[in-house]
Amino acid sequence: MKKIAIFASGSGTNFEAIAQACADGRIDARVALLVCDVPGAKVLERAERFGVPAFCFSPRSYASKADFEREIADRMDALGIDLVCLAGYMRIIGPTLLERYGGRIINIHPALLPAFKGAHAVEDAVAYGVKVYGITIHWVDETLDGGKIIAQEAFPYEGSDPAEVHRIGQKIEHRLYVETINKLLQ
Ligand code: GAR
Repeated sequence: MKKIAIFASGSGTNFEAIAQACADGRIDARVALLVCDVPGAKVLERAERFGVPAFCFSPRSYASKADFEREIADRMDALGIDLVCLAGYMRIIGPTLLERYGGRIINIHPALLPAFKGAHAVEDAVAYGVKVYGITIHWVDETLDGGKIIAQEAFPYEGSDPAEVHRIGQKIEHRLYVETINKLLQ
């Protein structure tokens, strides 16, 4: 059975959607590792609930990004990870991880890339006044939110409440991420 690692920094609703789909057999794989860079993040409770082992670290306790990325890659090698899914991991993947896992890392982003890259995509899109929002799943390379696009889904929204856009978008994310992971693993 294929093994997935999920990287997350926050709440982990996407983590839960993927872990639940694996548990239900809607994804023919197992979530074998959660990587979390924020001690105390809510995603850790979700991992515990699903019995998924977590590697949680504090980036500041490492001398460099290369050092913690080497440790992450070593742990993924030991488990035989096939696919890495970034799910609200608010950190740029560096050369150490890309050298060892490039071509096997995907990310979900709450905007229609290449528009609104970065950490505040929804807020930026609302401030810009767009009328069509969306979700993008893409391969991760050395560019910020710039790797080849795998899947996208758009939705119309005429209001100006970022929280509402997040709510609508996350429902789409949970379904689209599961569908996309399933296709990639087949
Ligand atoms: C998701 O909406 C994801 O698109 C976004 O973080 C959220 C994490 O939610 N990612 C980015 O903004 C990456 N630039 P979750 O913790 O509930 O899964």
